[in-house]
Amino acid sequence: MTDPNLAIIVLAAGQGTRMKSATPKLLHELAGAPIVSHVLATAGALDPAVVLAVVRYERDRLAKVISADLPSAVIVDQDEIPGTGRAVEQAIAALPADFSGEVLVLNGDVPLLDADTLLDLVSRHRTSGAGATVLSSIVPDASGYGRIVRTDDGSLDRIVEHKDATPEEHAIGEINAGIYVFGLNALRDQLANLSTDNAQGEKYLTDVIELLRRAGSDVAAVPVDEPWKAEGINDRAQLSEAAARLNALIVRGWQLNGVTVQDPATTWIDLKVTLENDVTILPGTQLKGATTVARGAVVGPDTTLVDCEVGEDATVKRADATLAVIGARASVGPFAYLRPGTVLDENGKIGTFVETKNARIGEGSKVPHLSYVGDTTVGRGVNLGAGTITANYDDILKHRTEFGDHVHTGAHNVFVAPVRIGDGAKTGAGAVVRKDVPAGALALSVAPQRNIEGWVEKNRSGTAAAEVAERARSAQEADDGSQRQDG
Ligand code: UD1
Ligand code: CA
Repeated sequence: MTDPNLAIIVLAAGQGTRMKSATPKLLHELAGAPIVSHVLATAGALDPAVVLAVVRYERDRLAKVISADLPSAVIVDQDEIPGTGRAVEQAIAALPADFSGEVLVLNGDVPLLDADTLLDLVSRHRTSGAGATVLSSIVPDASGYGRIVRTDDGSLDRIVEHKDATPEEHAIGEINAGIYVFGLNALRDQLANLSTDNAQGEKYLTDVIELLRRAGSDVAAVPVDEPWKAEGINDRAQLSEAAARLNALIVRGWQLNGVTVQDPATTWIDLKVTLENDVTILPGTQLKGATTVARGAVVGPDTTLVDCEVGEDATVKRADATLAVIGARASVGPFAYLRPGTVLDENGKIGTFVETKNARIGEGSKVPHLSYVGDTTVGRGVNLGAGTITANYDDILKHRTEFGDHVHTGAHNVFVAPVRIGDGAKTGAGAVVRKDVPAGALALSVAPQRNIEGWVEKNRSGTAAAEVAERARSAQEADDGSQRQDG
């Protein structure tokens, strides 16, 4: 149910210089979604009256992602005055005129926070009647974070930024998580009093705490139950740590839901992936995007699936696949590369060292070894020989190759598209098929074999080959002679 007295501000205007990246920090991904998307999902789950997202650096790229994730979010542009305080100041100016209540501020770079922690913080704030309630965290390495400075009686005094802190303050292990609940009026009054007189020349939101306290408001800092939830991402080392943490949670969630994951440490599963009971995931597997895997399928080892659909009881071993559909009881790999548009029907097989693209392979049909099959339709019960190549590209256009049902082709064939092989047809080994093959025909395109007797002995005399050839020929002649006598 919507909370009409709660507004959420997501801070997403910073550049994230510590990432050293052309991509804005909040668009770097974990579990298949940008950092900011995780924060927006949590904000949306609280169902507040309004979500405001503050942008500035690469604002169009950020705004596009934010609007796609949460279409109701209000995008607020931060001006050239820097700092989290300025960002919040501009966001509250964009609040609906009739809004009154609490403002929850979320740093956009803290992606692992869950909705329950936030709801708890909001309700503590409301029952305490404080002017501000800050989420804090006690961490082993507080370096870089704002520190929670408490008075002798243990209550919150102020927050000091790392760059402004004294050596004694640097020793404080309790940090500001960058998550705050404020009463709207108290916040608005104090934002007006912020200055940029600090080490970074920014309007710090954190200074509002001290200002509120001096104005006679209560302020409180509440430590989070699990410090990892409040970890902010500033550099790529922190990004990989947060990604590993989230992945461990996702993997464990699937394990408790009936999926066998043999090695959680080398298994990566994106948030949007769905898995049915009794799926088995073997080591070194990455399931990305909107991949789905049905009951009983075995995926891995060493497999990457991006936006794929895997059917019941299928096996996919040492494969790399994108936008592919793998049917029930089908088998893929080891060492297969399925490119977009591959559809392998039930009981089909794409085997070892096979690449497919935009190819439909019918029920029970097999491409077992060393092949490239692209822009192709294969009927049912077909077997394509080892070393099949569909030559789909003539330098200008891509053309299709079509195989009917129950076609069996010889080893090492080239199908020069466009070409159609009719139902039940066969081709000989080494054929280069340039013309359609009618149903039931046998296509041969290789010249008959000619053996030139004695060629090696005559032209390569003195070599090991000539020596063994001579020995074999003599033995054969002796054998023929004795057979003649016997007869
Ligand atoms: C901030 C806090 C620090 C806290 C830490 C927790 C301040 C002054 N400091 O520091 O006390 O321990 O978060 O992770 O708030 N942003 C804007 N506009 C700006 C600057 C930043 O929207 O002008 C956004 C950023 O995109 C980011 C968030 O605010 O999502 C925090 O900014 P960042 O620069 O990472 O702050 P920290 O130095 O980590
Ligand atoms: Ca940060």
